[in-house]
Amino acid sequence: MKVEIISTVAELTEVVRGLKKSGRTIGVVPTMGALHEGHLSLARASREDNDDTIATIFLNPAQFSPQEDLSRYPRTLEKDIERLADEGVGYVFAPSNEEVYPNDFTTSVTPPAVARRLEGEFRPAHFGGVVTVVLKLLNMTCADVAYFGQKDYQQGTVIRQMVRDLNVPTEVRVCPIIRDQDGLALSSRNVFLSTEQRAVALSLNKTLLHVEAQIKAGQRDGFEVVTEMRQMLIDSGVERIDYAMIANPDSLEMADPIVLPAVALIAAYVGETRLLDNRVFTEG
Ligand code: PAF
Repeated sequence: MKVEIISTVAELTEVVRGLKKSGRTIGVVPTMGALHEGHLSLARASREDNDDTIATIFLNPAQFSPQEDLSRYPRTLEKDIERLADEGVGYVFAPSNEEVYPNDFTTSVTPPAVARRLEGEFRPAHFGGVVTVVLKLLNMTCADVAYFGQKDYQQGTVIRQMVRDLNVPTEVRVCPIIRDQDGLALSSRNVFLSTEQRAVALSLNKTLLHVEAQIKAGQRDGFEVVTEMRQMLIDSGVERIDYAMIANPDSLEMADPIVLPAVALIAAYVGETRLLDNRVFTEG
């Protein structure tokens, strides 16, 4: 099937209207481009579940603070479109900034309370930008289901809550983290890592696997686990840890004692590159 590239909201509305009129279900895969296997796994999930899939490619300036280098973010639009076409995605919506945020745009969504923890402490404006653009994309695509990756664990939690709170008629599905063979969670930012930095970056997954082993062995002391996580990361050469935490998977409040299910989350810098990883632990 040939992929249709859509760049305006008006064109998108026409397409969506046609699909809905024919009774077809729509899955949306929101992305900021620089696609990797993780994104493609979301496209595959959407293709499996829905009649049609719309992938969106929009590098959303509203979720970057002035200190974060938006211009450094990799841009690979042509290659992204090719990869989505190879996956059989029917529609790619790749709008300009002006299309999403026209000059007279002034409304924004206040994210739910869970957005204030973890990422929210280090990137206070981030989730405001995320929920605003995601709500716009869900409204524009009228999607039945929206797909997000578990690597951005808190983002999934925040979007789920936003959708629930605002009665958005879209189901949110969070799909598993895709890792390279060495265990590194796929991220568009991994291209910035040198060979040496990549070796250090592996410590995020190793630390999470260590936590898993500890929990399986019966460890329930949250503070001890967190102290060990930080030490393992520092010993491996991680320069700066924003957070290393074990938390309740819904509220993201620190789990101490650890009650299952729980999630361990890490945000840390290797060189200039900020990496995220997490692992969910369930009973049994
Ligand atoms: O996860 C991302 O790539 C972005 O935060 C998203 C959901 C596409 C919103 O810009």
